Amino acid sequence: MAFLIVPQIDLVKQHKDLRTEIFRVFEDILSSGRFILGRYVEEFERKAAEYLNVRYGVGVNSGTDALVIGLRSVGIGRGDKVITTTFSFFATVESIMLVGAEPVLVDIDERTFNISVEDVKSKMSEGIKAIIAVHLFGQMAEVEKLKFEGVHLIEDAAQAFGAMRNGIKAGSFGDVGAFSFYPTKNLSALGDGGLITTNIPEVYKNAKSLRVHGSYNEKYKHENIGYNSRLDEIQAAFLLVKLRYIDEWNRKRNEIAKIYDEELKDFVMIPYVLEGNFHIYHQYTIRTDARDKLAEHLRKNGIGVSIYYPIPLHLQKPLRELGYKEGEFPVAEKISKEVLSIPIYPEMEEWQVEFVISKIKEFFKG
Ligand SMILES: Cc1ncc(COP(=O)(O)O)c(C=O)c1O
Repeated sequence: MAFLIVPQIDLVKQHKDLRTEIFRVFEDILSSGRFILGRYVEEFERKAAEYLNVRYGVGVNSGTDALVIGLRSVGIGRGDKVITTTFSFFATVESIMLVGAEPVLVDIDERTFNISVEDVKSKMSEGIKAIIAVHLFGQMAEVEKLKFEGVHLIEDAAQAFGAMRNGIKAGSFGDVGAFSFYPTKNLSALGDGGLITTNIPEVYKNAKSLRVHGSYNEKYKHENIGYNSRLDEIQAAFLLVKLRYIDEWNRKRNEIAKIYDEELKDFVMIPYVLEGNFHIYHQYTIRTDARDKLAEHLRKNGIGVSIYYPIPLHLQKPLRELGYKEGEFPVAEKISKEVLSIPIYPEMEEWQVEFVISKIKEFFKG
């Protein structure tokens, strides 16, 4: 791999810009002596919930745990059937299996890469207890079409902090929203972190209890088998610093996406944005049948690119063992051979955007 002229994401640059603020909260925590579930976690939960237009926020230690605890908080467990998309990061389906439930996978909408509403409807047989809709790459799924009587809707909003659909924020529509603050996410901690959102008091209470060994208000009194899944004070403090910039960063991502759209539309399939959606471009993902050669060309020229995701979930070993087969979800299988995510991050310089565009054009023009 050549020296990276345009990395896929540049956190060093982001943190250089925030250095003073980050060091200030770091100092404060060091001298406070409070590292677990203190005032920063509380403040982050409150401010994030306010930002996301939701009643409650519960900080946990990853997006995966946000899904696992979220599922359990609405009562999903052994033997329950949960519908989700076959085109996502593994944690989406893993969370279903971790709580002992059975995943029922469905194909995607070819335009948006998000869960196909039609396919969901075709599998809504009796016994479906929940749906996990993933807001893939930063664009919300059609959540308003995924509400069914007696079926819990969980939003996997790991990639979509600040994304909106018809004015509704990701993570505020379903029974539960699950966010990840893994360092590559558009709102990121300096390590692992996650957030559960909900408007339902009972779900909030369950999530708060499950994240700390099934204990609610009274220490050493346990009502559930839970987890050790607390968001660290230090991560909450870093996240509070970054939360102030999230709108500006999402706007910047949109500006870059607009330039890419204009310049690349004659060469590759550019992202399709559904009417009413505010896409936050966690990823800018293009489609071309020359994907592998294009990726090689860009990497050779010092541009960081990734394939999200090369293998749909139904073709991963633990799902094959459940009986899923190749050919079952043709759209996701096709898309997984064509997608390529190119650099997009708020700190990207104009010349870097132009460099990426010029190298893509060079590839297709020869
Ligand atoms: C769609 C999706 N769901 C869940 C997760 C899991 O989040 P985490 O890595 O914080 O556990 C991620 C990110 O890694 C993700 O992209």
